[in-house]
Amino acid sequence: MKSILVANWKMNPQTMREAKGLFDATRKAAESAKDVSIMVAPPAIFLRELSQAYKGKRISFAAQNAHFQKEGAYTGEVSMSQVKDAKAAAVIIGHAERRAMGETNEETRAKINAAMAQKLQPIFCVGEHERSGAGEHFLFVKEQLRAGLQDIVPANLGKIVIAYEPVWAIGATEAMTPRQMHEMTIFIRKSLVGSHGDKAMKIKILYGGSIDETNAREMVLEGEVQGLLVGRASTNPAKVSALIKSLA
Ligand code: PGA
Repeated sequence: MKSILVANWKMNPQTMREAKGLFDATRKAAESAKDVSIMVAPPAIFLRELSQAYKGKRISFAAQNAHFQKEGAYTGEVSMSQVKDAKAAAVIIGHAERRAMGETNEETRAKINAAMAQKLQPIFCVGEHERSGAGEHFLFVKEQLRAGLQDIVPANLGKIVIAYEPVWAIGATEAMTPRQMHEMTIFIRKSLVGSHGDKAMKIKILYGGSIDETNAREMVLEGEVQGLLVGRASTNPAKVSALIKSLA
């Protein structure tokens, strides 16, 4: 089965020239990695130029965020239709860094609905801030999932990608262990099937947080995830190539 790699460049790099260089390194590695499906999520301002210049099939594009309103007076925002028009196929929704800037569960719900209306694939991020022995983090994630996905009809469940990213492992020195992820994968799958029925088996689950070429493969195999959402390592040309090769 193909694994998915979402390259979340965040607010990097600083010039279009560098963005092209980074994309080129990603593209080259992608060419020899048939069983990895790569999604590049560049800053919105680079999206169209990169997607227009790319003629291959191996890579698709995602926006890092978009607004839930169709259009209008929302200074600094981009709409789902604009993202679609720039040839993105997907949009990241509810990333921990957006939530830290105030994005609510209610907004993730509105954004998922708005993305679906534009036929953009939502990459819906969930994850707790911390863990305690009592296991409250499971309830926290369950509530994020419930809130974000409450309007999704069963027929559309297969279009959703869940990216589980424990906030404490994002930008950290160590990822979560594949074993902990395995437990979380089962929990997420169970809660989704519990609330949405068997069709939820089709939802893809990714892990994100401190992944690079040294731990990617292990996380996919032992964490039983369908792919990874990667920040830092995806913005370093050498690292992203090594990471893609390690998954292929
Ligand atoms: P990181 O970021 O790979 O730099 O930890 C992951 C993310 O925020 O998606």
